[in-house]
Amino acid sequence: MRLDKLLTRLGEASRSGCRELLKTGRVRVNGETVASGAFSVPEGALVTLDGRPLDCRLDRYLMMNKPAGVLTAREDARQKTVMDLLPPVYASLECMPVGRLDKDTTGLLLLTTDGELAHRLISPARHVDKVYEARVEGALEQKDVEAFAEGIPLGDFTALPARLEILAPDVGLATVREGKFHQVKRMFGAVGKPVLALRRLRFGPLSLDEALQPGDYRELNEEEIAALYAAAGIKHE
Ligand code: URA
Repeated sequence: MRLDKLLTRLGEASRSGCRELLKTGRVRVNGETVASGAFSVPEGALVTLDGRPLDCRLDRYLMMNKPAGVLTAREDARQKTVMDLLPPVYASLECMPVGRLDKDTTGLLLLTTDGELAHRLISPARHVDKVYEARVEGALEQKDVEAFAEGIPLGDFTALPARLEILAPDVGLATVREGKFHQVKRMFGAVGKPVLALRRLRFGPLSLDEALQPGDYRELNEEEIAALYAAAGIKHE
């Protein structure tokens, strides 16, 4: 990739700011000062800006413990979004949330720069399981487990059969394969147990890292990334 393109993708400078950085000798590639934006950066090269090594990976995969009160969106004119909880390099690399959690829903949110991966993981056709812990009003009963297993009619559509495990009278663990708008809340609402709090614990092969405090994030490791591509049915080297 061209050096100027790399620097702009990483959010280090605008196109014109880049020219200035290069002209003033602030950028080195493998120890050599490079002044030309057209310079082709070799794979795995060490690029520094003012001596600071840059993380040149363009593909990123994150897990966030989404806190309540922020929107799952790339940007919003008025409200805080999950992107506001990340260093700006992720927005610059066009990292995007995989699917959506409601503003008041907490827990596991994946973000990636790979649009196809994101698309496949949320496609209803792929049936990737998502697990939610719901605290509800009232007491869950065996007949609710059966209703979830049968597929709950929600007016505009009938939810696919889902698994409900009762952890406590007012706490259920729901495993669903779709992700329609407010789906899990609507499913509990339909059996007369409105959701008071919802937290996602799993997305496909990945579990929420309990070491992450609400609002924290971390990059996925190679094993986790490979598991996601496998769940999405995409070959990934
Ligand atoms: N289902 C919901 O109702 N809300 C969420 O945030 C996610 C799934």
